[in-house]
Amino acid sequence: MKIAMGNDHSAVEMKTVIREYVEAKGYEVIDFGTNTGESCDYPEYGEKVGRAVASGEADYGIAICGTGIGIGIAAGKVKGIRVCTCSEPYSARLSRMHNNTNVLTFGARVIGTEMAKMIVDEWLDNAYEGGRHDRRVAQLMEIEG
Ligand code: RB5
Repeated sequence: MKIAMGNDHSAVEMKTVIREYVEAKGYEVIDFGTNTGESCDYPEYGEKVGRAVASGEADYGIAICGTGIGIGIAAGKVKGIRVCTCSEPYSARLSRMHNNTNVLTFGARVIGTEMAKMIVDEWLDNAYEGGRHDRRVAQLMEIEG
């Protein structure tokens, strides 16, 4: 299983920690950067992660900026992407089970690395339940036309 990862300058350290964490869990990571502390623009990295997931190059995406919000908005603009921006594990888990989210984002300036690992665990270790949620997820995808 492959995970596309992307981040802006505010999240290089967090991305590195989470990258190593998911690799240790057995995932292959496609790292779209950035990998320097030089100021950059989060939309570029959110879009790259979103496109990698939408095209099938990656199974899932994890994108990190200061809040997780900007990079999440960017990834969610890509057709086929359902983003979950999380600060705690419960929502991450339910977003997989009910919403079939395919990109997770969080804020390096909002949560610490241990909370981020818990969120990532809940998100990656839980599967979409289907059933009654299929209709609702299909309705979500109809909105993007
Ligand atoms: C960068 O300063 C910051 O705006 C960005 O990382 C993110 O929080 C945007 O949503």
